[in-house]
This record gives sequence, C-alpha cells and structure tokens, in this order.
Amino acid sequence: MNVYDSTRMSDVLAPLGYLPTDQPDGADMIILNTCHIREKASEKVFSELGRLKQMKLEKSADGGRMILAVAGCVAQAEGDEILRRAPQVDLVFGPQTYHRLPELVTRTLRDEDAGGVLDIDFPLESKFDALPDDSVVEGASAFLSIQEGCDKFCTFCVVPYTRGAEFSRPAADIFAEAQRLVAAGAREITLLGQNVNAYHGDAPSLVFGGAADAAASSTWGLGRLLRYLAEIDGLERLRYTTSHPRDMDDELIAVHGDEPKVMPYLHLPVQSGSDRILEAMNRRHTADDYRRIVDRLRDACPQIALSSDFIVGFPGERDEDFADTLRLITDVGYAQAYSFKYSPRPGTPAEAIEQQIDEAVKSERLETLQNLLSAQQIAFNQSAVGQTMRVLMEKAGRRDHQLSGRSPFMQSVFVEANGRLLGKVVEVRIEKAHARSLEGTVVTGTYSGVAGVATQPSNHSGGPSMEAAS
Ligand code: 5AD
Ligand code: SF4
Repeated sequence: MNVYDSTRMSDVLAPLGYLPTDQPDGADMIILNTCHIREKASEKVFSELGRLKQMKLEKSADGGRMILAVAGCVAQAEGDEILRRAPQVDLVFGPQTYHRLPELVTRTLRDEDAGGVLDIDFPLESKFDALPDDSVVEGASAFLSIQEGCDKFCTFCVVPYTRGAEFSRPAADIFAEAQRLVAAGAREITLLGQNVNAYHGDAPSLVFGGAADAAASSTWGLGRLLRYLAEIDGLERLRYTTSHPRDMDDELIAVHGDEPKVMPYLHLPVQSGSDRILEAMNRRHTADDYRRIVDRLRDACPQIALSSDFIVGFPGERDEDFADTLRLITDVGYAQAYSFKYSPRPGTPAEAIEQQIDEAVKSERLETLQNLLSAQQIAFNQSAVGQTMRVLMEKAGRRDHQLSGRSPFMQSVFVEANGRLLGKVVEVRIEKAHARSLEGTVVTGTYSGVAGVATQPSNHSGGPSMEAAS
C-alpha cells in the first residue's frame, strides 16, 4: 500500500511541478514513506534521515533548498518525536492526509511553522475524494487501494492505530479508477486494503438506485466488486491483498471458482497454527477453521496456490504451539510465505504480556519454519516444470533480450523475448525452476493482450523469434 500511496503522492505533486526521480541527491524534495509494522522498519527511518541530512546540507551549500518529508505510518505514530529528534525534517504527514500536500508544501516553503509542519489528522473528508483523477501509471500491473484501516485489533498489530478505522471506497469510484488504469496500460490490477476482504463499499447507484431495489443491500462485498471489475475490457487479471480468514465469505470463495480473471492465488495470513496463540492474538478463529476455509477454496478452485504470513515467538508461545504451526504448514502446503519474529509494538496489548520469548528461541523457530516454507516453495516451483502457463510480461529482465513476468500463481518467470511482449499475457512453457523464480520459453504466437500498450525499451529491439508479437 505504501507503493500505491507513493504513486498517488506523485500525482498530487505533479501540478506543482514536481516529478519523481531515481536520484535523490540534489532533489527539491525527498519524501520517506514509512512503515511501522515491525521495529526494524521504523528504526530504519532514523538511520535514513541521518544520511539524507547530509544531502540536504550539500544542496544548501550549493544555494538550493531541499524539503525533507516523512510520510506513512511512522509519521502517524511518531510525528512529534521525528520533528524533535530530527530537526532536519521539514514536514511530517500521515497516510490519511497526503491529499493536502500542495497546502503542506506551501506552508513548508513559507516557513510558517517553526520547528516543522505536522499533519497527522484522521480527517473527516476522504483523501480519495480529493486526489486527482489522472494517475502516473507505468507498467502492466497496477495497485488500486479499495479499503483502508482495520477494526480487527489483533493484539500484536499497530495497523488499527496507525491507519485508523476500516473504510471502504464506493464501488463506482473504484470502477472508474480501474478503467483509468487499464486505459493507461494496466492489464492486471491488485486491489489493496489492510483488511481487503472486509470490503463493504457503497454499491453503484445505477444498480441499486431504483425503487424496486430498495430492499436490496446497498453495499457490496469484495466478491461482488471483483465480478463488477472483471467486466472491464482489456483488464485481464485481478488480485487482492491482504485478507483475513474470517472475511472469506461464500461469494468471495465462489468467485475464485467461476471468474477466470480472478487469479488462482491467495495471500491468506494465519500467523500461527496454535489455537492458544491464535486466541491470545485475538484472531478469532481456530487452526481448523482456517483448514476448512482452505478446503472450501480448493473445492471452488482446485489449482489455487496459497501464501501466508507467520509470526514466531509471540508472547507465551511454547514448543508445542510452534509444533502446531509447523503441522498447519505441512497440512496446507504453501506456494510461498512471509514469516517474522514477533516484534513488540508500542501501545499494542501483546507488548504488555509478561512471557516475552527469548530472541535466541525466536531465531531458532524462525529458521526451522523458513526451512519448511522454502522446501514447499521449491517443490511448488518444481511442479511447474513442463507446464505451459499464461505469464503477464511486466519488465525487462536482468539480461539482454530477457523479460520477466508473473505466472497466475505470482511466480516470477524469466523468458528470452522481445520487448514488444511487455504488457501482454503470453503462453510460456516452463523449463527450469529456481528457489524463487522460473525460467521458460515463449510458445510463439499465443499471446493475448491489447497492442500498443507496451513500452519498448530501446535495448530490446530485435530478438529471437518474436516477430508474431505486435
Ligand atoms: N511482529 C511481527 N510481525 C508482525 N506483523 C504484524 N505485526 C507484527 C509484529 N508486531 C506481521 C503479520 C502481518 C504482516 C503484515 O506483518 O504477520 O500479517
Ligand atoms: Fe493487523 Fe491484519 Fe490483524 Fe488488522 S487483521 S489488526 S491489519 S494483522
């Protein structure tokens, strides 16, 4: 979501004359868009600010001025402290106020607020209503934020405090933004939300505006929204992340079975396989509830691949709890996963639990868990060898005449191909599996997609046997 937010910040700043750059030195403004989810992520902000102070000083020595800003969830949670500890910072704003950037930048440039400008409100107006319609989209795969915040209050998590209460955008606004993304070249859209499948946005008034529909529900869940977005011509793939097991409702599960544009891949965090720990985490489901959801998803869509998040070393986690987590992983079988050592976060209930786990125990459990998950990922990748898959070509690969794309199951796939295939869904025969990627050969002439969308890097003109692509 920070990637999406950063893109939208660029959109807001474009009319003021700011353009994104890959080169921070000498820039007129640097915005650190930060994450507060684990301690490591938020500590990074202060070390990065030390480095950027140097750049800012160099720019002033050359007679210029650099605005240094901190955005995102660390800004939201620690805004005052940032301004106190890092006086080189000019501007601090949270995830819900970046639509006010033009005004905030003006205030900063006028030096109206001694000690730095701070805006970490949760405003009544939605930023989405104030953001510009035109977006700087690049590439075939785009993010679209549909839901923000979280009301679940898992006891380890800062999100309900930093991102605030659940909010869903109206379906019509999402549809319009998706249409714009597709017109600008996106072939795949990933719908984003901290708790995306809790989505319950206003239904489009066209559908529910009439008297006959008065009794019908005027909000839609994520399943209904996915079906609506799947109607957009030129949009080939839909994904969504991140979901909570409790919000996997019947319609959402069904959509995986009967809407071909919804990809057969789901990131469904479980965190732990122990009922005791799940309860202490306030996840409000058991390990078997999760197994049953996975069974229902596989009934609807037999080839679906799963990913998850795991936390090891949650306070009070015993060896037998950890063994339950390993058993759940073995039962489910994941295509990939993310795993973390529990990190105490300020103001969360779990931080105050007395039985915190030793770092050494956390590290050992993490290693065991990651070994198991890696073995599953390698086995999953190996099972792809010999298959032909539809791959969305997203960017130039590391080597000349190489492109990289994504399989339906989110695997990175490298192929030798001409840049003209960028932005297209191409049939690829998988030849080789690596731990984190696949290699394959394009099955010539079987691509789909809309011509004229791809950007063609100059170093990829010409190339092997791709002349059918235009
Ligand atoms: N410590 C470790 N991992 C955490 N996550 C969230 N909060 C914490 C924490 N305090 C992980 C969860 C979540 C993912 C985004 O980050 O696994 O699903
Ligand atoms: Fe955090 Fe996700 Fe739990 Fe919400 S559902 S509190 S975002 S872990």
